[in-house]
This record gives sequence, structure tokens and C-alpha cells, in this order.
Amino acid sequence: MSLDLNLDKILIIDFGSQFTQLIARRIRELGVFSELVSHKKIKSFHINNNIKGIILSGGPLNVYQLNKSTFDNKILNLGIPILGICFGHQILSKFKGGKVKQSKHREFGLAKIFKKRNSLLVKNFFDKKKLNQVWMSHADQVTKLPKNFKIIASTENSRFAIVENKQENFFGVQFHPEVTHTENGKKIISNFIFFICKIERNWSSKDQKVQLIKDIREKVGSDKVICALSGGVDSSVVAQLFNKAIGKKLYCIFVNTGLLRKNEEIQVIKTFKKRLKINLIYVNAEKEFLKKLKNVSDPEKKRKIIGNLFIRIFERYAKKINNVKFLAQGTLYPDLIESKSVTGSQTSKIKSHHNVGGLPKRMKLELIEPLKFLFKDEVRKLGLELNLNRDIISRHPFPGPGLAIRMPGSITKEKINILKAADNYFIQALKEHGLYNKIWQAYAALLPVKTVGVMGDNRTYEYLCLLRAITSEDGMTADFYEFKKSFIQDISNKIVNSIRGINRVVYDITSKPPSTIELE
Ligand code: XMP
Repeated sequence: MSLDLNLDKILIIDFGSQFTQLIARRIRELGVFSELVSHKKIKSFHINNNIKGIILSGGPLNVYQLNKSTFDNKILNLGIPILGICFGHQILSKFKGGKVKQSKHREFGLAKIFKKRNSLLVKNFFDKKKLNQVWMSHADQVTKLPKNFKIIASTENSRFAIVENKQENFFGVQFHPEVTHTENGKKIISNFIFFICKIERNWSSKDQKVQLIKDIREKVGSDKVICALSGGVDSSVVAQLFNKAIGKKLYCIFVNTGLLRKNEEIQVIKTFKKRLKINLIYVNAEKEFLKKLKNVSDPEKKRKIIGNLFIRIFERYAKKINNVKFLAQGTLYPDLIESKSVTGSQTSKIKSHHNVGGLPKRMKLELIEPLKFLFKDEVRKLGLELNLNRDIISRHPFPGPGLAIRMPGSITKEKINILKAADNYFIQALKEHGLYNKIWQAYAALLPVKTVGVMGDNRTYEYLCLLRAITSEDGMTADFYEFKKSFIQDISNKIVNSIRGINRVVYDITSKPPSTIELE
């Protein structure tokens, strides 16, 4: 592995299915490197000896919409094993001489599949009754198989649910083996990559650690690297990776915006400076941020002010370290895929995200992004391999603009303190009840409304605290977490009884969409 990976791999050609990333994940879970590319960008001349197998993903198109500019079908004639999934199965059949038509019975959801013939692809896939549940999502289907293709299994509505051309190592499945609803689906993927593509395992956190450290040392040589440390999972793993690779040639800059969680700055200094002995420059810019944010309540303005000021402060301190050549960033694989826009469609801008490492390109530093081929769970495993505490590894995501976007309306020191206290009670309670790791992200927010309450015999007129806890795969969609009444009641009592300034607690039960995870 190198910072520009040169490993044997399974190539996944993405035709836009919402599950394509899952295919990559499943293969990597099996210990094999897999790479995702858009069907519009991959050309047959890109295919080299490292590619041991190709998977054609599902997608929303219709096979007759593909043409030379959107898919180079010569890729299907290079003698490399191919597995087509759903739409990919239809592509393979069509380009090899079969027929695809709109199906009379569209199939969405679970279907029963029954075995007709043995194949390496379905080794140990079927249960004893030769009948499994698979997850379907298609409107078109293959109606005539190409020459030399045989049926391996069928469902009631899809005769050609699993097919193969044994001589040429072509396989097609109409369902989605990558989703967990397909019983034993991973077996199909593992049979394809190990028995048919015959690829060796080459992807474990230990291998990644050793190789990444070696690559960083080679690339950096005797130069210096800076890194914006936020204390979140990605930047922490990057910092520790560089720390192991180049030690004191790494300079981490940690900016306290005053909008962090309670005691966060203390924990970051304790972990990175004291325990891991990383070169850490701590910048307390609390006053500067508060001053700039005074009387600002527009969400986008808040985000822009915070993002710009962050960068200015970062640059100010980075310049003090002479002769820096590189900027280390915790870009992950999904960021890379999204920024390259796999489908080529532009999504509308919902929020200006401020990622701490995002902007200082104008500083003319060379970027190093060692995590750019990894998914979040892989980054977490790598972090453990690098001896980072579980506390850091399993942290919920925390947005760059911090508490500012959890406090609709204007920002004051008083409100920040109230919010920090409420959030701290909530997060601590989640940890104490063993709920923290079941939840993807949780936080408290302070709403800019005051309501009337009664405490003792006195009337109160105080702020409203909103609690949000969601489950999610990747933050793109989310659902609220269902707490037991006793838990949510206890935490509400604790917040109202212990924090002056809050007399009412509400729980956010909206999903994303239509809401977003953060409030602003
Ligand atoms: P939304 O609110 O867009 O959030 O549903 C999705 C995920 O992104 C996080 N988030 C941010 N992360 N800078 C970040 O680094 C930001 O400006 C930002 N805004 C939202 C949010 O916490 C959630 O995990």
C-alpha cells in the first residue's frame, strides 16, 4: 500500500445505486482492498494487473440509456471475472447478447430464492432447504440470457435471479447480496472474490498501520508537517499516525473556539500533549470568536464567521513554524467519493459545512491525506491499532462550528455555559446507561425561547433545552433513538433541577430527511 494505493483489488463500477458503498464495505470486511469508480470515468485502458475482479453495481438507470460516453463496455471483454448486481446483472446480460425488459412485476423488498444448479458462487449460500430470503429492488429484468449463461437460482418473479457463464467467469444476481436483509449475502461476495477472482487477503488495520507509517516517512523525509487537530476521530487518528511516523516533525494546532463541549480542551491537551507527547500548539481563541459572533443569529453567517476566523488563526500559528511543507488532513473515502460526485449530479446546498482542515490551500502547502481510502469504521480500527483510547475512537461526530449551531439565535457566554452543562449531563447519562455506543450522535441544544415553569413555589421563566439522539449509518439519513420513558424523564429532571437557566426539556423526534441532524 502507498499513499496512492497500488494493491491487488476488486474494482466496483458504480452506476449510482444507494448501496454501492456497501459493496466496497463488505469486500473490505473480508480483508480485501476494493475501489469504487464511476461508470462514466472508468475506461478499459485503466484496467491493470492489480484488478482481479470487477463488480458492476446497481443503479437507477435503464440499460438502454448507457452509451459509449457513459460506459466503456470493452471493460467486459478483458478476461477479468465479473459479478453484476441488480442493474449490473442487466448490463452484463445485455452487453453479452441477452435481453432486458421492463418487468411485469416490479420487485421491492424480500423475495424467496430457490436453487436450481450448483455453482462456486453459491457455495454455502443456500440453507438446507435450498431456499433463502433475498432483497430485491428492481423494475427491469433480464428476459433472455446470453449464450453460454445458465440459471443457478430463481425467485417467483425473476427466473434469472442468479446466473453464470462458467467458462468466462461472468456472474449476475438480480438481488442485492450486499445488504443485510439478504440472508447470507456476504457469502456470494466472498465466494466471488476468493474462489473466482482468487484474490489474497491484503487489507487489515495492522497492515495499514505499518504501511502508512512507512509511506508517510518516505514522503515527508526531513520536512515538517502541520495538522489541525479537533479532537474528533479522524483528525486524532491522523495526528497519531504522523506522530508515530515522524514524531517531532509534526505540529498539531488545536484551536479552542469557546464552542467546544464541556472540558473538551482539557481532555485534548491531556491526551495529545501529556499522554501521546505530540507537539501540540494550543490556541485559546474563545474571546476572539465570541466577539466576532456577537449579535449574529443567521445560521449561515455564523458558519462563515467561524470557518473564516478558524482559518485565519490556524494560518497565523502555522506561519510561526518555519519551513512547513505539508498539511495533514483526515479526508475519508466517502468524502473523496462524494467530492468526485459519483453520479455527476449536483446536490443543492443545504449548509456550508466547515471542516477544520478544509481551507488553507492558499497557504501553498502540499496536502497529505493518509485516510483517504478508508471508511469511518476502518479509521476507528486503525485508531485502536495506533493505541488511541476507546474514548476518542468511539466519539460521536462533532461539527466544526460546534455549539454555535446548537444554539439558534444570538450567542452569549451565558448561553454557552448553560448549554455545555446540559450537554454534559446528557452525554454522561448516555455513557452511564451503556447507550452512548448504540447512538450515532447525540447532543443538547438551547432554543431561543423562554417558557414559564414552577419550581418550589416560584414561577420560573427560562430557556428550552432540546435533546437530540439519532441512529444512522453515515449521517446522510437518520432516525431518532427511542429511549425508555424512565431514562428520558431522569435526564430531563436532572437538567431542569441542576442547571439554572433551563426549566423545560423537549426531545426531537424528527428524522433526516426532512430535518437535518444539527439545528442550523
Ligand atoms: P446535518 O446537520 O447536515 O449533519 O444533517 C450531518 C452530519 O454532519 C455534521 N456536521 C458538520 N460537521 N462541520 C463538520 O465537520 C460542519 O459544519 C458540520 N455541520 C454538520 C453533523 O454533526 C452530522 O454528524
